[in-house]
Order: sequence, then C-alpha cells, then structure tokens
Amino acid sequence: MALYSEKVMEHFLHPKNVGIIEDADAVGEVGNARCGDIMKMYLKIENDIIEDVKFETFGCASAIASSSMATELIKGKPVSEAMGLTNKAVAEALDGLPDYKMHCSVLAEQAIKAAIEDYEKKEKGEQS
Ligand code: FES
Repeated sequence: MALYSEKVMEHFLHPKNVGIIEDADAVGEVGNARCGDIMKMYLKIENDIIEDVKFETFGCASAIASSSMATELIKGKPVSEAMGLTNKAVAEALDGLPDYKMHCSVLAEQAIKAAIEDYEKKEKGEQS
C-alpha cells in the first residue's frame, strides 16, 4: 500500500495558495521543535470572512500537503469557523496521513490559530 494518499501527493506536488500576502491582516508562524519544520500563514480578512490565505512552509511533504489543504478549507469561511478547524479535519480531507505524520497536520491547525489570534489582537488594539 502506498504510504501517502493520492490527495496528499497532489497537494504536495501542486500545493494551493503558496506564497505571501504583502498587506495581510494577520500572520501566524509556528514551528515544530522536534523536526525543525516551520509554517507561516497569511490571512486577508474582511467583515470577518477569510477573503484570502497564503502559506509558506519549510517542511516535509505532509506539512506542505496539510498547509495546502488547510488553506483550501478556510478560504471564504468566517473567522470563527476557521478557528474551529482541527488537524483531524485536515488529515481527513487529505484521505488520511500515516500515524507518525499526524503531527505535521497539527502544524497547519496551529498556524491558522496563531494567525487568527494575531488578527484578534490587532482588532482589539484598534478598538481601544
Ligand atoms: Fe515536521 Fe512533518 S516532519 S512537520
């Protein structure tokens, strides 16, 4: 049996939403200390909707596939819904990841949460 699902391979070889958003409303960066991989998410948010999202991932194939899938899952969605995205949902959307690669999808969940937290912090700052 193949190690990776076709979807993982597809998102690894042709990742969606790679890059940076120059005038992003929020940025989140996380890393995994054990493997040293880093993921950065850029969000463009309007009226609480994620209008655009891009990522840069310096990491393994699963991390790249997870970031690509995660961006697809939150694009056009309300911020609250994106905040609820779990690494399990990302892995399921990829038709599964090997057990020892699940932590790579955790990075995608954490990067999105970090970006949204950055957004919320800025929002509060602007109001006060
Ligand atoms: Fe580090 Fe996959 S091995 S994120």
